[in-house]
Amino acid sequence: ACALLSQQDLAGETVLVTAGPTQEELDPVRYISNHSSGKMGYALAQAARHRGAKVILVSGPTCLEPPPGLELVRVVSARQMYEAVMTRAEGCSVVIKAAAVADYRPLLRNGDKLKKKDDNLTLELAKNPDILSQLGQLNPRPLLVGFAAETTDLQNNAAAKLAAKNLDMIVANDVSQEGAGFNVSTNIARLLYRDGRVEPLELMPKTRLAELILDRVGQLLQNKGR
Ligand code: CTP
Ligand code: CA
Repeated sequence: ACALLSQQDLAGETVLVTAGPTQEELDPVRYISNHSSGKMGYALAQAARHRGAKVILVSGPTCLEPPPGLELVRVVSARQMYEAVMTRAEGCSVVIKAAAVADYRPLLRNGDKLKKKDDNLTLELAKNPDILSQLGQLNPRPLLVGFAAETTDLQNNAAAKLAAKNLDMIVANDVSQEGAGFNVSTNIARLLYRDGRVEPLELMPKTRLAELILDRVGQLLQNKGR
């Protein structure tokens, strides 16, 4: 009974999770994107649901089955994700940004398929809005959890993002390590907090990492309430 009760630690909370990649169209048949299976975000959404939260899952294109019992908002581009998140964030107690958002989109989308011509092709790109940074500016703002996928200088890069985006916690993972990152069902992460604490974690399934992250989210919400 105890285990069941402790699993409801997010009852009454609304948790918004973003998952998957975004796709930025170049023409009707092509896009630029990031590697991302959506597994981490879907695992977080499902785990939050099991803990009693009302869950909004804002998902870029993935091959995953939508978990039952939550509100699924499908988006394609970073700008669509931005709209979907910003219009819902005010009603949320927690936002977890597991999505791999494309930092840039093609400046122009061609209405017709581009035809190949020269040997070299230069694309002009425009910067997308940084959703997490915008959320960090809200007042009051929900509890914010970001992700940082890095290939070098993991801890410094992640700490800089935590501060710059005004987050409560960031999940840092070195995607160059085996067993971490894209399209695998495990991850090696370290959790960084506002107060400078760092919690290094072992290799574990993304489903277990999701539970661990939500344990910490539950604790942070409790501290906030005090
Ligand atoms: N993020 C976001 N909106 C963007 C880009 C990133 O909300 N336009 C979020 C991601 O979902 C992630 C966090 O910001 O939770 C960090 O993303 P990351 O790509 O690691 O950091 P960037 O700030 O984009 O920096 P860079 O890619 O240059 O390392
Ligand atoms: Ca980025």
